[in-house]
Amino acid sequence: MIKFSGVTKTFGTHTVLDNLNLVIPKGQVTFIIGKSGEGKSVTIKHIMGLLKPDAGRIVVDGEDITDFDIEQLRKYRRKFGMLFQHAALFDSLTVGENVIFPLREHTKMPLPEMLKRVEEVLVQVGLPNIQHKFSTELSTGEKKRVGLARALVARPVVILYDEPTTGMDPLVSEMIDELIVQLSKEEKEMTSVVISHDLKAAMATAENIIFLYKGRIALTGTPADFKTSKDPVVRQFFAGKVEGPMEFL
Ligand SMILES: Nc1ncnc2c1ncn2[C@@H]1O[C@H](COP(=O)(O)OP(=O)(O)OP(=O)(O)O)[C@@H](O)[C@H]1O
Ligand SMILES: [Mg+2]
Repeated sequence: MIKFSGVTKTFGTHTVLDNLNLVIPKGQVTFIIGKSGEGKSVTIKHIMGLLKPDAGRIVVDGEDITDFDIEQLRKYRRKFGMLFQHAALFDSLTVGENVIFPLREHTKMPLPEMLKRVEEVLVQVGLPNIQHKFSTELSTGEKKRVGLARALVARPVVILYDEPTTGMDPLVSEMIDELIVQLSKEEKEMTSVVISHDLKAAMATAENIIFLYKGRIALTGTPADFKTSKDPVVRQFFAGKVEGPMEFL
């Protein structure tokens, strides 16, 4: 679904992505993990066309997007649903108004159909009957789920989660991780990309894991591959230790 070939990105003298080759398969849950500053967000920004590589090509859903202009990118970005780190709901709008927003922006769907779709995704995230609440009245976990409903509503081809559980209590985190898996199963065609530094969540949730280190992939594979990896950097990241071969910037 997503393919980086030799993608390099340098800011000043700091090469963040160094000839990166990356493949994200369609219809699965792929985690991109790595410690802070390894380029996870920079990678996602390249996927969405918010940053352009200095070298290399990016192909998404069969299209080479590397040289897309603003108009092409605007259309292209409709493929994506994005769940931001902080749910980023509009406080002055109700839950229903928040969730309907992408449909109003990007489609010409008749209103009754929009309302039906909003109801449908709210049920999918386990929050029926809260359409009329304001986001200020919601718990953190509920806000996250409303954000998820909003990311799903326009039937994205790819859903991107940026640190979906960072800063949440363990129970809410687990619920969100389970929801990611459940939604991926329900929407078989949809590709899920999760940015995280939570290796434990990746092991429990991912079908594929891409581990970024020093601008490249240190290891990519299934959770089972990670469990059995002898790579010292992977082992250190697993153990959560400061001592080891991993260099800190
Ligand atoms: N627009 C930019 N201009 C200059 N440097 C940038 C820019 N965006 C990112 N960087 C640098 O690129 C590196 C990687 O940043 P990135 O945000 O991708 O890290 P990350 O892996 O998402 O980390 P975190 O887990 O903390 O979110 C950092 O050193 C950052 O300072
Ligand atoms: Mg980041």
